[in-house]
Amino acid sequence: MKRLVVYYSLSGNTEEAAKKIAAKLEADLLRLDTEKAMPKSFPARILVGGGQVMMNYIPKLKPMEKDPAGYDEIILGSPIWNSKGVPAINAFLQDEKAAAKVTSLFFLSGGGETKKGLEAITKKLPNLKHSVSLLDKKHQDSRDNDAKIEEFVKAIQG
Ligand SMILES: Cc1cc2nc3c(=O)[nH]c(=O)nc-3n(C[C@H](O)[C@H](O)[C@H](O)COP(=O)(O)O)c2cc1C
Repeated sequence: MKRLVVYYSLSGNTEEAAKKIAAKLEADLLRLDTEKAMPKSFPARILVGGGQVMMNYIPKLKPMEKDPAGYDEIILGSPIWNSKGVPAINAFLQDEKAAAKVTSLFFLSGGGETKKGLEAITKKLPNLKHSVSLLDKKHQDSRDNDAKIEEFVKAIQG
């Protein structure tokens, strides 16, 4: 089984989880980046990112370093923005063949309220089997992330 962990991360939390998950699964890693960079300051990020989500904006992605077509299974990682998945992930999921390979999803959020995000994104994932909600390292319960990742990886391995 050739696995690819695909993720987007603005401030590093999703990236940290992606690296841990990929190492445990011996999977390759693919970081998604948008052509247009996001602002550096947090308030500007909230304004711009929030606006993008509201408008269902699909950004242009930078060329990908790995081709999802060469993999059997994709594990997808997204932060939650405005209770939904992020624009870069929506751009990636425009490739329906890649979306069909996503069996597992991990979310990072500031507050843990991911129900709406899960609903928004699962519509695009016909073969989703496993998902896990992880917390930003600023949240005190983020200490549970490693145990949740362990369980998530075991479920994927079957
Ligand atoms: C534009 C924007 C919107 C966000 N909206 C939410 C939200 O609706 N709910 C929530 O719990 N966290 C929200 N967050 C917090 C992020 O989900 C959280 O900080 C996450 O860990 C970021 O992942 P990253 O470090 O990989 O970028 C938002 C962050 C940004 C930048």
